[in-house]
Amino acid sequence: MNITNDKITEYLDSYYKPLDDDLAAFRARNEENGVPLILRETESYLAMMLKVLKPRHILEIGTAYGYSAIFFARSCPEARVTTIDRGQRMIPIATKNFEEWPEGERIDFRTGDAREILDQMIKDAEIKPDPYDFIFIDAGKSHYKEFFDRAIHLAAPGTVVVCDNILMRGWIVDRSYEGGKRHRTNIKYMKQFIEYINGREDLTVSMLSSGDGLAVIKLDE
Ligand SMILES: C[S@@+](CC[C@H](N)C(=O)[O-])C[C@H]1O[C@@H](n2cnc3c(N)ncnc32)[C@H](O)[C@@H]1O
Repeated sequence: MNITNDKITEYLDSYYKPLDDDLAAFRARNEENGVPLILRETESYLAMMLKVLKPRHILEIGTAYGYSAIFFARSCPEARVTTIDRGQRMIPIATKNFEEWPEGERIDFRTGDAREILDQMIKDAEIKPDPYDFIFIDAGKSHYKEFFDRAIHLAAPGTVVVCDNILMRGWIVDRSYEGGKRHRTNIKYMKQFIEYINGREDLTVSMLSSGDGLAVIKLDE
């Protein structure tokens, strides 16, 4: 379902340009099989951000089958990407995809609960810092604050953090949207996360209705 207007999304999507034919085919396979992956509008926005920011070290929370991680690595040929997922169904398929795509060599796939993995990464960074300069959060919707608070410990000053699905198909503003009642907990925690980031004086926050809703957060320089 579209959170704004189906016709507008259809119109915008008609201008969507995949990075290349391989990624277009990968997207099509994932969409046909109902695999979760970033929406076209979200990808177009991220592609713009990557061109402008040219990150060298990207952290992603929420890998699924690896589409967005491969998209990040393909878009930024000089960058290294770390991506985290705990889904037992996702892990073997993402692992295989990273073995098959040449970009897999630049993708560090960590498996397990992102909160635990990030805690360990924070400890490791105390000994050997290796800061990230672009962060994408696209995992469990009840845990964005926990992911964000940890991830920013690993970030270089001025890093941009993009959080996907903050409007949750519109349920965040109107629970009468189909299915909203089933996701009460996610909605409650996502609302708290939105309050939290907007209440912090040290963050610059922009919230967009693109895709399923994006929060774009810039850390202080
Ligand atoms: C929407 S999918 C990610 C899609 C992916 N970014 C893409 O566009 O190709 C969300 C993923 O987050 C993972 N996930 C949810 N909660 C998690 C957690 N606490 N730790 C690690 N992974 C988590 C799920 O297993 C799922 O694969």
